[in-house]
Amino acid sequence: MFSFKSIGCPLFAVLLLHISSIARAQSSETASLDKVKLTFTLDKEGRPGYEVSFGGKAVIRPSTLGMVLQADSLFYRGFEMTGVERREVDTTWEPVWGESSRIRDHYRQLTVHLRKPGSPTRRLDIAFRVFADGVGFRYEFPKQPGLTYFAVSDERTQFRMAGDHKAFWIPGDYDSNEYPYTTSLLSQIDNRDLVEKSTAIAVRVAPDPYAVQTPLMMKTDDGLYINIHEAALVDYSAMQLHVDRAGLILSSSLVPDAVGTKAYVHAPFHTPWRTILVSDRAADILTSKTILNLNEPSKIENTSWIKPMKFVGVWWEMQTGKSTWSYSDFPDSLDPKGRPVPNGRHGANTANVKRYIDFAAAHGIGGVLVEGWNTGWEDWFGNWKENVFDFVTPYPDFDVRSVTEYAASKGVKMIMHNETSGSATNYERQMDTAFRFMVRFGYGSVKTGYVGKIIPRGEHHDGQWMINHYVRVAAKAAQYHVMLDVHEPVRPTGLQRTYPNWLACEAARGNEYNAFSDGNAPGHETILPFTRLMGGPMDYTPGIFKLKGYSGVPGRQVHTTLAKQLALYVTLYSPLQMAADLPENYDAHPDAFRWIEEVPVDWDDTRVLEAEPGDYISIARKGKGAPNWFIGAITDEQGRVASLPLAFLEKSTKYEATIYRDAPGADWKTNPEAYLIEKKIVDSRTILSLPLAPGGGAAVSLKPVKAS
Ligand code: NOJ
Ligand code: CA
Repeated sequence: MFSFKSIGCPLFAVLLLHISSIARAQSSETASLDKVKLTFTLDKEGRPGYEVSFGGKAVIRPSTLGMVLQADSLFYRGFEMTGVERREVDTTWEPVWGESSRIRDHYRQLTVHLRKPGSPTRRLDIAFRVFADGVGFRYEFPKQPGLTYFAVSDERTQFRMAGDHKAFWIPGDYDSNEYPYTTSLLSQIDNRDLVEKSTAIAVRVAPDPYAVQTPLMMKTDDGLYINIHEAALVDYSAMQLHVDRAGLILSSSLVPDAVGTKAYVHAPFHTPWRTILVSDRAADILTSKTILNLNEPSKIENTSWIKPMKFVGVWWEMQTGKSTWSYSDFPDSLDPKGRPVPNGRHGANTANVKRYIDFAAAHGIGGVLVEGWNTGWEDWFGNWKENVFDFVTPYPDFDVRSVTEYAASKGVKMIMHNETSGSATNYERQMDTAFRFMVRFGYGSVKTGYVGKIIPRGEHHDGQWMINHYVRVAAKAAQYHVMLDVHEPVRPTGLQRTYPNWLACEAARGNEYNAFSDGNAPGHETILPFTRLMGGPMDYTPGIFKLKGYSGVPGRQVHTTLAKQLALYVTLYSPLQMAADLPENYDAHPDAFRWIEEVPVDWDDTRVLEAEPGDYISIARKGKGAPNWFIGAITDEQGRVASLPLAFLEKSTKYEATIYRDAPGADWKTNPEAYLIEKKIVDSRTILSLPLAPGGGAAVSLKPVKAS
């Protein structure tokens, strides 16, 4: 069933099964690859633990492992080791889409077998995979009479840090990840104030003011970059991290359900992988494939219908207040004949949708998203009702058949929108109906959303029930050959490898916050790739050209220059990438829009040319199956000159570089729309010097010059 391909590089799995005599005294086992070394220990009290180093430097100091189960509150001590297994795997696989077309998966695995004497005996395995850029480990519960169906009360995984590192973090909210990042020392993490001030659609904040979400990015005083997250989050709740600020200890804090239980499982079972990435180069964190490698191969056999694309949408006009999602202003505004009274500002009307279809067709943009097409938007936000939306009933001014036919005649794909307003049970009941509707009207992808409190009541966006829901939706969408872009889910953990139709998620604070709030600080996009995007692509919705004056609220503006909006198409990877602004704002800058037309959404190769979390990122990528390269370079609020060696280009080939950059005097705050476009002939010996404005960026396309 798996479409796992093992190619080129041979797979060699050396299995050394070594069953030692049962170890009762303190014992330890190590595994290493390149500079990464993992040590597992079992102490005299039978408590499992581990530590990690990189090039001899401590990354994780001796830390505890283990679980608290409802059936055994001490499932972290009193263990004996009954054996270890080791193996090495080195293989290469091809993702359906992604940042590179071949991915090497090379690790050394150490699995320790533990048992807890008792009546009946209980068993636990801990599997470690050591990669050249980090470690993944997980708890595995073999099938056993001592544990069949059981509930997890807590996980006792610690990450003891070796110093008071600089950290890039958002607070441990169980329901929202749409926060601005704070940069502080670990010892200064305190999110009480931030939680109060945040404009995130937070519906319940975790009671722990010292918890943060993963991926957590850190930098040490001596130049190590460390990232902690998880991979393959399935049938379990998300892991947040409680920060012991005095001891510099991060400990797993699982998102609870309505009665405080963290997970209900049955053996055989394994937890998601806990991941620790480490390097002395920030760029290596961004190119790490370890999280993807720790996920299962595709469960979808025929993936030929999965096609990355760019899209426009009837969307930013609602975000900025020009039009509305709803058809009427109030739920009960009916005319004497009982028909809803139109407010005259409904965005998803047939004529307006056709305007977007025309624009997409004229510019080679693959898809058109339409939000607010279905009934229910008069009263959907924050009312915690079960049945706000039915996903199949259009408003009177949205002619779904005519839109479908028009889009098909122009070769444009329609993108469905299913906002659930947090009512996941409602969505589950209607999912088949919703997907059948999509198939019937030619929608090959859907953007879903989970704004608000989750129903079932008491469940959280990041709890086990919802984790299972997101996976059920991905599997159901695959059954109907529909691609998925999920808003307000748990942050991704690499499951796009297993469900390659799950192209994108939001799961962080997107560009939309520039429309309806004080916005995202200019450094925000330089942190996202090191945090949220470590788990998978983000639907950030880049491409805003009208950066000021789109909102009635004084002072509201996008916190980047126009050139930086272009660069985001490369620096924030997504196989479903929106051109989020209005057609009329693109028509005002056809020369700059050319970049958005040309930039690919699927890549053969990716090189991070320079990167520093919170400061700047420059990335070059080669389009899939084509010789052209594209560069995006961005900076935070500090202007700088990006110095980019083009050594990745084919030797002895000349390329025409088209450079879209900030004009002299550009500045995100005062002069964001000043850009210039220039052309140059370059080759692999060229070092491009690109001045970036404060909050600015640059985008470059590189195409081989054809011999005339
Ligand atoms: C929040 C999403 O992030 C946004 O893209 C969408 O337009 C609204 N919810 C309405 O569904
Ligand atoms: Ca959102």
